[in-house]
Amino acid sequence: MACGTVTVLLLLWFSSANAQSPTPAPAPAPEHVNLTDLLSVAGPFHTFLNYLQSTKVIETFQNQANNTDEGITIFVPRDQAFSSLKKQSLSNLTQDQLRSLCLFHALPHYYSLSDFRNLSQRNPIPTFAGGPNYALNFTDNAGTIRIDSGWTRTKVTSAVHAADPVAIYETDRVLLPEAIFGTDIPPTPAPAPAPAPVTDIAPVADGGRTGSGSSSSSPTSAPSSSERISSLGVSAIVGGAAAALVNLMYMLSKLTKRIHLIKYDVCR
Ligand SMILES: *[C@@H]1O[C@H](CO)[C@@H](O)[C@H](O)[C@H]1NC(C)=O
Ligand SMILES: *[C@@H]1O[C@H](CO)[C@@H](O)[C@H](O)[C@H]1NC(C)=O
Ligand SMILES: *[C@@H]1O[C@H](CO)[C@@H](O)[C@H](O)[C@H]1NC(C)=O
Ligand SMILES: *[C@@H]1O[C@H](CO)[C@@H](O)[C@H](O)[C@H]1NC(C)=O
Ligand SMILES: *[C@@H]1O[C@H](CO)[C@@H](O)[C@H](O)[C@H]1NC(C)=O
Repeated sequence: MACGTVTVLLLLWFSSANAQSPTPAPAPAPEHVNLTDLLSVAGPFHTFLNYLQSTKVIETFQNQANNTDEGITIFVPRDQAFSSLKKQSLSNLTQDQLRSLCLFHALPHYYSLSDFRNLSQRNPIPTFAGGPNYALNFTDNAGTIRIDSGWTRTKVTSAVHAADPVAIYETDRVLLPEAIFGTDIPPTPAPAPAPAPVTDIAPVADGGRTGSGSSSSSPTSAPSSSERISSLGVSAIVGGAAAALVNLMYMLSKLTKRIHLIKYDVCR
């Protein structure tokens, strides 16, 4: 009876755990990254994860991570990146377009952060959504990796996970592809009485061509060296700490699941 209570509590506590077979694995499983798990403990990346799931792109990514030698590199916008988009940016997209948008956030190959210097020599880089229409440009500016989609300029703010075959990098903006948002975006049907210039009405997405995702630099003025140093320091420290924390949480979630499974078995 006490046993039953314990089981129920554990089930509640780990309600996010999947209902897999209660038999514990006899040997430690080979290192396998469960992308859903990882993205649900890191971030917060819930909005992006929801899109990945509703479009089933998560399966494409997981399959690439599981079953290819190439591996995968995924750029993951934080929830805040989605909430700061103009309201109708994504709400009017078709399911196909959403799918492409999700695929646009990944490269079908594992790249460590240090690989981006070379990669940036080969711009534009085709994404999972297919090239040449869905390609990204990268620049490695003394260790800060900037990403340009045409519509969105942003940068890698931290490495959530980077161990071959899976790299997950956090960005503070949603990557909006030109292939979807194009150059002739229908004006929003908003009741805006804005006497604004055309360029302010047309783009549905935030940022726009001239928008800078990375407040630290404008095209006309180079950041001061102290600015650069501090931004580098922050991204290195925060990135390292965040990655370590995420990995800890991820391992913990695996461990607690195992405990739960063992309890379950004992109590039966
Ligand atoms: C990955 O984790 C999610 C959430 O915990 C779970 O629902 C799913 O079954 C897991 N997938 C695999 C292949 O273990
Ligand atoms: C990925 O690998 C895990 C563990 O081996 C497996 O449970 C899962 O079904 C695989 N998923 C895909 C999409 O291949
Ligand atoms: C976009 O969606 C809104 C509702 O969310 C709708 O009123 C509007 O007509 C849609 N616009 C287009 C161009 O589909
Ligand atoms: C970068 O590219 C150069 C040639 O362009 C190559 O020699 C070098 O091995 C590459 N480095 C990495 C880390 O891929
Ligand atoms: C990406 O880089 C290529 C080559 O330098 C350039 O032609 C293209 O305009 C760039 N695209 C974007 C979106 O910046």
